Amino acid sequence: MDEPSIRTLADPEEVSRTAAEEFVRIGREAIQVRGRFIVALSGGSTPRRLYELLSRPPFRGQLQWPLVEFFWGDERTVPPDHPDSNFRMAREAMLAKLDLSDSRVHRIEADRPDCTEAARDYQAEIARICGVSAEGKPPRLDLVLLGMGPDAHTASLFPSTEALKEKERWVVANFVPKLAGDRLTLTPVILNRAANVIFLVAGDDKADALAAVLEGPPDPDRVPSQLIRPESGKLLWLVDRSAASRLERQC
Ligand code: 6PG
Repeated sequence: MDEPSIRTLADPEEVSRTAAEEFVRIGREAIQVRGRFIVALSGGSTPRRLYELLSRPPFRGQLQWPLVEFFWGDERTVPPDHPDSNFRMAREAMLAKLDLSDSRVHRIEADRPDCTEAARDYQAEIARICGVSAEGKPPRLDLVLLGMGPDAHTASLFPSTEALKEKERWVVANFVPKLAGDRLTLTPVILNRAANVIFLVAGDDKADALAAVLEGPPDPDRVPSQLIRPESGKLLWLVDRSAASRLERQC
């Protein structure tokens, strides 16, 4: 894996704008080469502004949205109209404004009673859309967007949880003790196959975690974002000055 690129930007707005530029650049290249753009969206609150920017000029007019396949990196075990739903956030901020066919939007059905079955079905959906076997190696997503929590979790790969050890499945139900519940999450098995991974990190509450991930000793069980090391893809960290304030190496 190449060394990650780290770009320190002035504030969350510049992080979002830069992410929108990268999203469109990667998307246009994927569509030009492969005829479509397969992306896994991040949840949480940071990417909301990115999604809003993508849904409006100038970015809206720069990508052939009907050729984009939207997946998610993780989902909470709530219905799609719940305030905590990552699907709802992306739909409100972007998807509903892009006049997309429902067939291009692949929601994680984390609200189903059997989370393990829902995870297995999501893996099958990824395989179906990407034209690979659900039993084999994961496909190479064109872009994965990720956030990071103050505990250095990403997607729903939380410290000391079972999903961190997953070596086969691309999607799992992951019990998170601190949340006293399950989350559905993509695992490093598929995340590290991606052609491009972009982290969006902003705020001084992330500074200690970011320093631990990028400059601390290897300790992925305690610092799960360290697990994200694309085998042959590009890893880009878009961080604001607050989040980067504890880094020795300023970029
Ligand atoms: C989720 C996300 C999670 C998120 C981080 C950062 O479902 O919450 O996938 O990994 O990216 O917790 O969240 P914020 O952007 O809200 O700080």
